Amino acid sequence: MDAKIVLLPGDGIGPEVVAEAVRVLEAVAAKFGHKFAFTSCPMGGNAIDTHGNPLPDETLAACRKADAVLLGAVGGPKWDDPAAKTRPEVGLLKIRKELGLFANLRPIKPSAHLLDASPLKREILEGTDILFFRELTGGVYFGESGRKPHPSGEEAWSVMIYSTGEIERIVRLAATAARGRRGKLTMVDKANVLEVSRLWRSVTARVMKEEFPDIKYDTVLVDAMAMHLLSRPRDFDVVVTENLFGDILTDEGSMLTGSMGLLPSASLGEPGPGLYEPIHGSAPDIAGKGIANPLATILAAAMLLRHSLKLEQEATTIETAVETVLQQGARTADIAAGKPSIATRAMGDLVLRQL
Ligand code: IPM
Ligand code: MN
Repeated sequence: MDAKIVLLPGDGIGPEVVAEAVRVLEAVAAKFGHKFAFTSCPMGGNAIDTHGNPLPDETLAACRKADAVLLGAVGGPKWDDPAAKTRPEVGLLKIRKELGLFANLRPIKPSAHLLDASPLKREILEGTDILFFRELTGGVYFGESGRKPHPSGEEAWSVMIYSTGEIERIVRLAATAARGRRGKLTMVDKANVLEVSRLWRSVTARVMKEEFPDIKYDTVLVDAMAMHLLSRPRDFDVVVTENLFGDILTDEGSMLTGSMGLLPSASLGEPGPGLYEPIHGSAPDIAGKGIANPLATILAAAMLLRHSLKLEQEATTIETAVETVLQQGARTADIAAGKPSIATRAMGDLVLRQL
């Protein structure tokens, strides 16, 4: 297979972890006889510095033409000034919207070899395997917002808004994924308070009843979900939720695996390229030191092969290599629990050796 992959290394540790994922993709291409052409484009804070725009038009155009996009991370203290004209995160939200990536898949499956890296007890974690579907192009992230004067100073609003169609399409994707797994879907909302959640509830109930009667379906309030994720994570299979709730719950969920440095994500949607990235940020505190964990990005590359290129065997090969390396005891600093750790590059080398 010939595939065009656009790289958006981004800021902070982004370039370091993307470099390792590219080495892994190149090794997979050689092993299975594929040809991957990589093009690297500016995005995030670095693009603000060079182009005055976190998502330059040329970058977006290159992404549209690609088969898939692999992103490192964006942002950092340099671009954090609240008075700044634009921010790195604006580029991320824009690329999601422009490419129509309404479904963000975040698998949370603690490695059997890392159960002690999590702050949670092994007995609670064992057997956990959750696939989050976070809605990514709607809700409060994209609703109307503004400010106006108020006797006490100002008031501000950010509207959480969803349409029937936006809910249906992600629920269908999530329920279809549940069919290929343990056949269970949980929808998380705040229907005891929010009107928008009551729309999620009625639309989801209808889609599930009419189109997915074979899937076991339940709903959980988001505050309760924050608790259940820590007390009974094993009980969940596929979880679908709106944008902001999904953002928060998946950061919480990452702690089940021990480190944000292990979690990949895939953003999919309308026909066209998918966007793959680690869920961690740019980690400015360790950027440039060569100690970041590249495994989340390497696992994101595996998701890219699976979802955008339909190369299931190649994806599994990478995932198995990562498991083996962890089983053999290789640890970057974030998962070393104070014990000796290895560098980003060395972790990449170990994965390559397995391939
Ligand atoms: C994420 C991030 C982004 C989000 C930020 C950087 C805008 O936290 O991908 O989860 O909130 O979606
Ligand atoms: Mn987040």
